[in-house]
Amino acid sequence: MRVHKYVLSPQRYFTSCLPASGLDALVARAPLTELAATLMADRPCRRAALAGLAGEAAAGLLAAGLLREEAGQLRLAELQLVSVQGIALFIDAAPLRAGAPIYPVPGPGLSSPLLAHHIDVDRIPRGAAALDLATGPGMLALFLARHAGRVVATDPSPERLQLAELNRALARRDALELRAETTAATLARGERFAVVTCNPWVAPFPAGLAGPVYAAEAGADGLGPLREVVAALGDLLLPGGTAYLTADLPGDDGKPFFLTDLERAAAEQGLVADVYLEDRVDHRLNHGPLRGLANLVAFEQGCDRHQAFERVKDHHLGTLGATCRYQAVMVLARRGGAASRMRVLNRFQGA
Ligand SMILES: C[S@@+](CC[C@H](N)C(=O)[O-])C[C@H]1O[C@@H](n2cnc3c(N)ncnc32)[C@H](O)[C@@H]1O
Repeated sequence: MRVHKYVLSPQRYFTSCLPASGLDALVARAPLTELAATLMADRPCRRAALAGLAGEAAAGLLAAGLLREEAGQLRLAELQLVSVQGIALFIDAAPLRAGAPIYPVPGPGLSSPLLAHHIDVDRIPRGAAALDLATGPGMLALFLARHAGRVVATDPSPERLQLAELNRALARRDALELRAETTAATLARGERFAVVTCNPWVAPFPAGLAGPVYAAEAGADGLGPLREVVAALGDLLLPGGTAYLTADLPGDDGKPFFLTDLERAAAEQGLVADVYLEDRVDHRLNHGPLRGLANLVAFEQGCDRHQAFERVKDHHLGTLGATCRYQAVMVLARRGGAASRMRVLNRFQGA
């Protein structure tokens, strides 16, 4: 049985944002969705209640290790199979478990599909070499593999690379080269690419409260990994090449602080930069994202959620003076002859 044909769910974030009662109501109206609710949101379902195709699919999924059975109830096993931009991806199912923070780290969030949406695939030369830094489960690398001749994807985490390997096999993309290395190691090789993508997931944490990804070397504003990539682009991009980067950037009411650094880096390296500010969250009005960060730290480090929240909030609003967070996509290109410049398109409240 080709199990993945049964398992692909729509974007997991839709389901993880849906309250459990919403799923219960859905299943009550349409019992055939019961297995889908387990696959999408780890909602327990009674195996004995599944009939016909759903029963057959459940048996196949159990045999494949994608479901586990506990006292007659089916639950997700370690991995979840999702579809992002039409790409089938295995991701870590742990964030769906009860008690997990609402800020899942391992899978692609909304920002990776957003970045893919910005990639000008018609500009990718036939047979081009592409690079995805901090690839995680490999979503952006697999997206690039549809359009480029050769793709290199790097990430130092063995767990994430294992997922990326699984996803490469699922997509049958042999031309995707996966390497266990940090961004610094990749940049030090001196290779050049026509397209570069990076969604490093950066977030500011106060000293002594380390987040799980990058935080140790990310600096107080969390942007160390992004600076590292931006500073290397002049050497990393082939003439005519383009880099697509995305991050949540701290800023004040007017703009993200990082734009000053970005404009300088673009000028120094002769790059043309377009910045798309897709969304802005005001931390004074909406505590959700800061609570999410604090919950993640509390979950990882076993500390108190409320204390973690107060520290994260003080760090943003006090130390950094960051009243807002901007969801940004940064497109930097090496265009022969074009003078360097930076344009900012504010898409959440008009240009
Ligand atoms: C947000 S996740 C990856 C998201 C991924 N680009 C996607 O689209 O799904 C950030 C990744 O950075 C990786 N990472 C952590 N430290 C790193 C480093 N020093 N160099 C490169 N990647 C790193 C983590 O292993 C993790 O997979």
